Amino acid sequence: VTAEKAGFDHFMLKEIYEQPKAYRDTMGARLNDTGNRVVLPELTMTEEDIRSIRNVHIVACGTAYHAGLVGKSVIEKLARIPVETDVASEYRYRAPIITKDTLVIVVSQSGETADTLAALREAQRCGARVLAITNVVGSSVAREANDVITTWAGPEIAVASTKAYTSQLIAFYLLGLYMAQVLGTVEDAVVSETITAMQALPEQVEAILEQAEVLKGIAEAVSTHDNLFFIGRGLDYAVAVEGSLKLKEISYIHSEAYAAGELKHGTLALIEEGIPVIALATQEELFEKTVSNIKEVKARGAHVIGVVNDGDVELAKSVDSTFAIPKTLALLTPALAVVPLQLLSYYASLARGNDVDKPRNLAKSVTVE
Ligand code: G6P
Repeated sequence: VTAEKAGFDHFMLKEIYEQPKAYRDTMGARLNDTGNRVVLPELTMTEEDIRSIRNVHIVACGTAYHAGLVGKSVIEKLARIPVETDVASEYRYRAPIITKDTLVIVVSQSGETADTLAALREAQRCGARVLAITNVVGSSVAREANDVITTWAGPEIAVASTKAYTSQLIAFYLLGLYMAQVLGTVEDAVVSETITAMQALPEQVEAILEQAEVLKGIAEAVSTHDNLFFIGRGLDYAVAVEGSLKLKEISYIHSEAYAAGELKHGTLALIEEGIPVIALATQEELFEKTVSNIKEVKARGAHVIGVVNDGDVELAKSVDSTFAIPKTLALLTPALAVVPLQLLSYYASLARGNDVDKPRNLAKSVTVE
């Protein structure tokens, strides 16, 4: 068993550390030789098919749904096509408007989640083309979808998903760039700049992993609390939602992820003396706005841990501690910002003496609706 874990105490930790490899493998042969274009030879969808897409629906469950929240921003920003992201168990029952010009993207690590599979079938029944992003070759979702982008994360054993999620993000970046190339919605220079930044991500993740001890310290302090908050705006909010789920799943500490600007419309009432607030502030365009939300919680006694970009010394003055992630393009920050949150959850679970890899009541793959 120890051998399977390659010397790590838990599968989750091993899988967190496998992320640089998962990023490299998922990008792999999907970048051209000169590294300035995305190629997706596995797609049966033609360029004409892509040009006929009027709207995109991303459908998934759990952590895969959270990857879909990032995917929405990525596709809208790069390809300028409207995107909606739904949880699969809700999608079919809201009579979604699906036409033959809708691209439905289902995201599933296992490719066996019952709700996701049912959503796929419903989309096809309505005439839509379905593209699957999945980690398991030959899974039900992979077999039934019209197109498949495989995430090459390798087997994920821990119930709490880590490397599958981040590989799904990489798949969305590749797909968004590819659609943009076909549609001409971004300049070639932006495509190659984004690819160059993506190629730096694995080493940047390694740099974060080297800081694991720092996160262990933060996690041990956090683990004594029963409630905490994650806040952020834009892509930081999407990451906050995933960070909050990860923490809840394995540490059993209740947390809530809130869009930072929405706090004052309710949840601010729950901020009391000493409550930890993990504030993500990696999006430069939204930075000032996020800082003012951080001040709102600070003023009510919160203990704020900021996740910031490397070199950002400003925020350190207004929070209790900061964790810096290496600098990348704003669109790519989720692929880095989630990593400290994964480690934080891992160490908080450990500090609470929980079964990290097999949290109570949860299953790795849910094949009932
Ligand atoms: C279960 C797991 C989650 C996972 C979700 C979707 O609930 O506990 O970690 O995100 O299913 O799984 P999938 O295999 O479809 O990505």
